Amino acid sequence: MADKCKRHSVSDPLSKDLVECLRESMQRELKFETPYVFVVFGASGDLAKKKIYPTLWWLFRDNLLPVNIKFVGYARSDLIVCRLRESFEKFCKVRESERCAFDDFIKKCSYVQGQYDTSDGFQKLQSSIADFQKESHDQAVNRLYYLALPPSVFNVVSTELKKNCMDNGDSWTRVIIEKPFGHDLKSSCELSTHLANLFKEDQIYRIDHYLGKEMVQNLMVMRFGNRILAPSWNRDHIASVMISFKEDFGTGGRAGYFDTAGIIRDVMQNHLMQILTLVAMEKPASLNAEDIRDEKVKVLKAAKVVELKDIVVGQYVANPEFDHPEASQGYKDDKSVPADSTTPTYALAVVHINNERWEGVPFFLRCGKALNEKKAEVRIQFKEVSGDIYPSGELKRSELVMRVQPNEAVYMKLMTKKPGMGFGVEETELDLTYHNRYKEVRLPDAYERLFLEVFMGSQINFVRTDELEYAWRILTPVLEELEKKKIQPVQYKFGSRGPTEGDDLMQKYGFLFTGTYKWVAPKL
Ligand code: NDP
Ligand code: BG6
Repeated sequence: MADKCKRHSVSDPLSKDLVECLRESMQRELKFETPYVFVVFGASGDLAKKKIYPTLWWLFRDNLLPVNIKFVGYARSDLIVCRLRESFEKFCKVRESERCAFDDFIKKCSYVQGQYDTSDGFQKLQSSIADFQKESHDQAVNRLYYLALPPSVFNVVSTELKKNCMDNGDSWTRVIIEKPFGHDLKSSCELSTHLANLFKEDQIYRIDHYLGKEMVQNLMVMRFGNRILAPSWNRDHIASVMISFKEDFGTGGRAGYFDTAGIIRDVMQNHLMQILTLVAMEKPASLNAEDIRDEKVKVLKAAKVVELKDIVVGQYVANPEFDHPEASQGYKDDKSVPADSTTPTYALAVVHINNERWEGVPFFLRCGKALNEKKAEVRIQFKEVSGDIYPSGELKRSELVMRVQPNEAVYMKLMTKKPGMGFGVEETELDLTYHNRYKEVRLPDAYERLFLEVFMGSQINFVRTDELEYAWRILTPVLEELEKKKIQPVQYKFGSRGPTEGDDLMQKYGFLFTGTYKWVAPKL
């Protein structure tokens, strides 16, 4: 793809306009002078160093956090702040000109060493928050607790938090939790019940970072902000919907975790199911979080449980010919994966939504690791025109594609008259590529957006308890069947498009791939 534009990255500050606009909306929801504490449980871990601390730094650098804030790391390891800093600094991508600001950021960081299953550490944490309150002229401290922890300690940590570290009513406490939210319907409901006994729904922020991505957030605007799309967004016009997630690398160092989960739990049950709800839901009564989440739940309720006949699972094998450092290792060549593992690294499931809008329209949820490219997109394939007057086969189905990543874009593939003399037709596109149209804009990273939303108390882009339950309902039976029957995944080569059985299943449900569309990238 010809691409001469400078791409922005998170190491670039957000534009002044965007910061001003964000600060304005934040000021409506929170007081910048009030004391806040952001506590990272699992501060010594991978997520903390690669995502959480860097995100906090970028927000701090761009003046998007309250001024009176402290960042407290909590973990079992014997650490001090300068060691913690060493672990995350390189992921913060600090520029030379930002050194002083970064030092100021570090001055706001502290560390509490403590166990997860006893109260001592939590009491230490509570007293450090109390000290902060005193320093802040006794103003009550708002608390954000980020649980970047393995599920094994989830219950004890949340219990200890409730016992020792809550606000006393003059401020608020919000708890941010990361997936996995359970392993199946039963364990997820148990976890939800546990949390519901400790916290109110408006204190729980379940992160699905796909809900923080620009193009995922754009789905609602595309659908409900354009008269032109709304009338055709249904079974009368749409032949199928494809929600696709592809990665061109394998499980890397995460195979141990991955083997207990598999791609269906890792990506399909959460990221893809969330996108499905946004594509399929009815227009909410308002932009209020509860109105939106009510509509998402309705779609999940209307979706049928996925059956074994409607799923293809795959597992990648080595392909030394593919130009990737990991490609000479198949999934099972990793030492932490059992030799007889049937864990899928690829899955394509067909979801049927039994309601007036969608009956008969297949929703393909496809996700895979070690494929030919890194890409996430939503592809709406429209039906053929009725009463075709052109020579047979010339008109191709229109498609609307929303590319979530890389290189965010919305494009509509449609027919046009072949330019010049004559009446011939050809496939072309209406193309909205973000980095062409919005050249100067550095899009915020998903975590940046979601953290700010927690500060502002907006739960629009966080998963509600019942959403989670209904999403698990759709996939748990087939997961159980795959595991009980030890269904062997189809092998596919590292760097391929995945098993051809996936394409066959889509074709069976009417997805049409002609291979005739040719993209000509514009010269910039
Ligand atoms: P295509 O018609 O080439 O592909 C359509 C769909 O069919 C995709 O889901 C594709 O990828 C899948 N497919 C590919 N081969 C097969 C097969 N053998 N059997 C079944 N399905 C198949 O159109 P695209 O929309 O993918 O566009 C082609 C290229 O043009 C892309 O690289 C796209 O990014 C680029 N483009 C870029 C734009 C921009 O940057 N703004 C705008 C328009 C196009 P798969 O299943 O492998 O994921
Ligand atoms: C995570 C999955 O939720 O999402 C990973 O656990 C996956 O397996 C990742 O790689 C993809 O996120 P992104 O933002 O890089 O597309």
